[in-house]
Amino acid sequence: MKTYNLCLLGFGNVGRALARLLAVKSEEMRVGFGVEWKITGVASRRLGWAVAPEGFDVEKLLAGEVESRVSPAPQGVRAWLAAAGADVMFETTSLEPHTGQPAVGHVRAALEAGAHAVTANKGAVVHGYEELSQLARARGRKFLFEATVADCLPVFSMFRESLPAARLLSFRAVLNSTTTVIIEEIERGRNFQEGVERAQLMGITETDPSYDVDGWDAAVKVCALATVLMREPLKLGEVEREGVRHLDAMRVRAAREEGRPYRLVSRAWRDGGGGKLRGSVRPEQLEQGDPFAALGGSSLAIRFALDVLPGLTIAAHEPNLQSTAYGLLADFINAARGDERGEGR
Ligand SMILES: NC(=O)c1ccc[n+]([C@@H]2O[C@H](COP(=O)([O-])OP(=O)(O)OC[C@H]3O[C@@H](n4cnc5c(N)ncnc54)[C@H](OP(=O)(O)O)[C@@H]3O)[C@@H](O)[C@H]2O)c1
Repeated sequence: MKTYNLCLLGFGNVGRALARLLAVKSEEMRVGFGVEWKITGVASRRLGWAVAPEGFDVEKLLAGEVESRVSPAPQGVRAWLAAAGADVMFETTSLEPHTGQPAVGHVRAALEAGAHAVTANKGAVVHGYEELSQLARARGRKFLFEATVADCLPVFSMFRESLPAARLLSFRAVLNSTTTVIIEEIERGRNFQEGVERAQLMGITETDPSYDVDGWDAAVKVCALATVLMREPLKLGEVEREGVRHLDAMRVRAAREEGRPYRLVSRAWRDGGGGKLRGSVRPEQLEQGDPFAALGGSSLAIRFALDVLPGLTIAAHEPNLQSTAYGLLADFINAARGDERGEGR
């Protein structure tokens, strides 16, 4: 039995859902995987760098009682990780699509402090994948990010564990649920802003919802999938991007009537099959019978084309914040399994 000191950097919708899920799953983790844990660090801009070496009470944390037991509280991520004795850091700060900061710096600090780094922040993958993966290997730690692209759909681990030597040729996907919710609200006769507000209530928008609406979130996900799974960096600026802000409400409603609704569709492919890697995000009216048309609310799906299999589709039906938190929790258990096997020693 090993007790892990966990540090949560970012304590918004996802960070709080993770704390809640850790509490719910603690017995299964102890009995099934020999893993115990305590949350020894919690941080955000408003909360500062709070540390409790003996572990925070999760209920109190969720009730907003985040008081550092170390005085003076550390200043900065490195001092915080050290004071909290971090074994695993969960990075769930807001997306910054253009630089991936401060998430890249946070993950780097965690790995250099000897902790596993688990993130839901796709910016860290797009802007730091190569560097952070190499650093993780060098330090014998894990840099895992299953929650970044499609909540808890096991996309990266599926390729890593179950599809060795399969080559990903292209993919087509619905990767952003906020825009689906907005389109559905417009289909029901409401307006664009009401759609944004509904998605915010569901807790599924980015901190700045314009990153969803204008296609940034989906474009960053395209880059993350392409960079990791197609093994070639795809830059954000190389993704053709159009959001849903200017969709015409009458056309959206007519499209639904036809049974061919609009969705924000993301793609990556190689020109001529083997040439330059390309990506796009744009609203598309789906073909009749397209399985993506059945995806409503927060649902997400990806259809992969592989050299050994023309079509492999995975879908998450109505995932919620607990599903995203589970992506982080699963990464944590997988890192702990690696420790158990002696990886990194
Ligand atoms: N919500 C979802 O359904 C979902 C699904 C998959 C992935 N994600 C990803 O998960 C991450 C968090 O999403 P969320 O929904 O939890 O967002 P959120 O509710 O807005 O929470 C963001 C948290 O990060 C903190 N934060 C932001 N900038 C920071 C900084 N520079 N330094 C320290 N803390 C900072 C915020 O607190 P302060 O304002 O106090 O700093 C807050 O605690 C994002 O990267 C998002 O893309 C979200």
